[in-house]
Amino acid sequence: MCGIVGYIGMKKAIPVLLNGLSKLEYRGYDSAGIAINEDGRLRVEKCKGRLSSLEERLKTEKLDGVMGIGHTRWATHGEPNDINSHPHISQSGEIAVVHNGIIENYIQLKEFLAENGYVFKSDTDTEVVAHLVEYYYKGDLLEAVMKVIDEIEGSYALGVLCKDDSDMFVCARKDSPLVIGLGNGENFIASDIPAILEYTRDIYILEDKEVAVLTKDSVKVFNSLGAPVKKEIFKVDWDVEAAEKGGFEHFMMKEMYEEPKVIRDTFNPRVKNGELVLDNINITKEDIEKLQKIHIVACGTAYHAGVVGKYIIEKLCRISVEVDVASEFRYRDPLITDKELTIIISQSGETLDTLFALREAKKKGSRIVSIVNVVGSSIARSSDDVLYTWAGPEIAVASTKAYNTQLTALYLIALDFGLKKGTISKQEADEILSSLREIPSGIEAILEDKESIQKFAHRHYNAKSIFFIGRSLDYALSMEGSLKLKEISYIHSEAYAGGELKHGTIALIEKGTLVVCPMTQDALFDKMVSNIREVKARGAVVLAITQNRHKEELEKTTDLVLTIPDVDSLVSPVLAVTPLQLFAYYMALEKGCDVDKPRNLAKSVTVE
Ligand code: F6R
Repeated sequence: MCGIVGYIGMKKAIPVLLNGLSKLEYRGYDSAGIAINEDGRLRVEKCKGRLSSLEERLKTEKLDGVMGIGHTRWATHGEPNDINSHPHISQSGEIAVVHNGIIENYIQLKEFLAENGYVFKSDTDTEVVAHLVEYYYKGDLLEAVMKVIDEIEGSYALGVLCKDDSDMFVCARKDSPLVIGLGNGENFIASDIPAILEYTRDIYILEDKEVAVLTKDSVKVFNSLGAPVKKEIFKVDWDVEAAEKGGFEHFMMKEMYEEPKVIRDTFNPRVKNGELVLDNINITKEDIEKLQKIHIVACGTAYHAGVVGKYIIEKLCRISVEVDVASEFRYRDPLITDKELTIIISQSGETLDTLFALREAKKKGSRIVSIVNVVGSSIARSSDDVLYTWAGPEIAVASTKAYNTQLTALYLIALDFGLKKGTISKQEADEILSSLREIPSGIEAILEDKESIQKFAHRHYNAKSIFFIGRSLDYALSMEGSLKLKEISYIHSEAYAGGELKHGTIALIEKGTLVVCPMTQDALFDKMVSNIREVKARGAVVLAITQNRHKEELEKTTDLVLTIPDVDSLVSPVLAVTPLQLFAYYMALEKGCDVDKPRNLAKSVTVE
């Protein structure tokens, strides 16, 4: 995580850097800092806390330099305080470094540098980079950085300034994202495109182990051997407004309101004249027939989408599916053969564990299909086939619209594979497609009626612990509802399979415990009613989420029924997640939490 930004040109660097950092704060907000080269003088300002604290501090400083680097931190090594904030400065004060990632061999490097007289001020892994650049610097910053990246292990996106080089700076990356923005008489670096989109739409996406030298008029990229690399310009075709709040109080609410549109954007271009056209997925009928197993690997919300994927792919394609959390998958020496396929799901396309899980599966011979939101991201570029979710930039740390589009993509893949394998008929596929087509207007109806969820949250936001229970697809949905609630409202919450509760966890249900029950699976409806009776008998307050058709029946057994339009059980998760997202949102709001930037979290997890 962490966000880095850099600028060289003719404008004053500070406003450009602060503006860029404001677009990257979602990547971490433990501290912020900038370093400016002002005609051969390095000026550094950094402090603990949000970017606003840094902005406040800069109001009294006169910094006119036209080149600089900036950083917003999600702490990994060393607590969030002023000293551990980036940029880090070398011993002589002549080199400044911002870094996103983790230097894994920093202890050895620290020992080496200490033996050579370097004194460390911070607890961070990054400080070794600043000293090491200085150690190797003999008048050529590029050469020094090349030597450093030869020695460091781990992941990094780096921006490096040198006091003596007031007309250039250097950046490099490995396993952490970094883009270069190409301007007219000015150039930029950033961890993510929205940070520089206001200034340019022409982007170089740096590959692993590439290093670049930026001046105001040129960008030169080199590979790890120092040979020049010819880069292609990636043209950004979405607007800066897509990454702005647009009148909503929070990005999270704005992004929930975008769900209908982004589901349509993900779905419509892939269904032409009633036929599925999955661009960039080149898997043939023969490939599918040979498949013995599918793995789905992801983290967090994307993992929960994967659990839904397991149910629907197994049902529609009759292929066994294993779902794994990426950080477990990559280290458990998974059994994979070349007759298996791995589906990787990631909004950012940069989650480090997911990227390494992908590499592990690929190494073992698996073909990789990825479902990714960010075009040109590391995961997209490392995959054999990519199905993009057209969710647009997701800024709120808690994922919402990306989840709905991940599900949409999974349905499309399951239908495509099922048709090719012959496990579903064209008529069955058409019925599912027409149910999916109804989802966006269903979400619009749910958003219209959000006040009932708000009122319920107003009555229950003091809850200490909330359970989510569901069966089959509703169990997968419960996991996501529970994660959303805990990450933004800090209320303890757990998700259980409805039938599993009585094997232990029901001991925790007492008078007043809130239990949320998604109940969209017709075939399991009666089973869930029994589970509700079990928790009601122990004093639970029950909130049920179900299709309109079950409202009347459920009103007798629960405390509140939130209804969703009458969709088919198979596609219901795409619709039923929205009330759960709204529930989490209003609970967090009632508790006065920072909805878009929950504590301890960052949007793009590019560290292990
Ligand atoms: C939760 C959330 C995280 C992400 C997870 C994976 O709201 O956003 O759990 O889903 O960190 O991120 P991506 O999808 O970018 O790989």
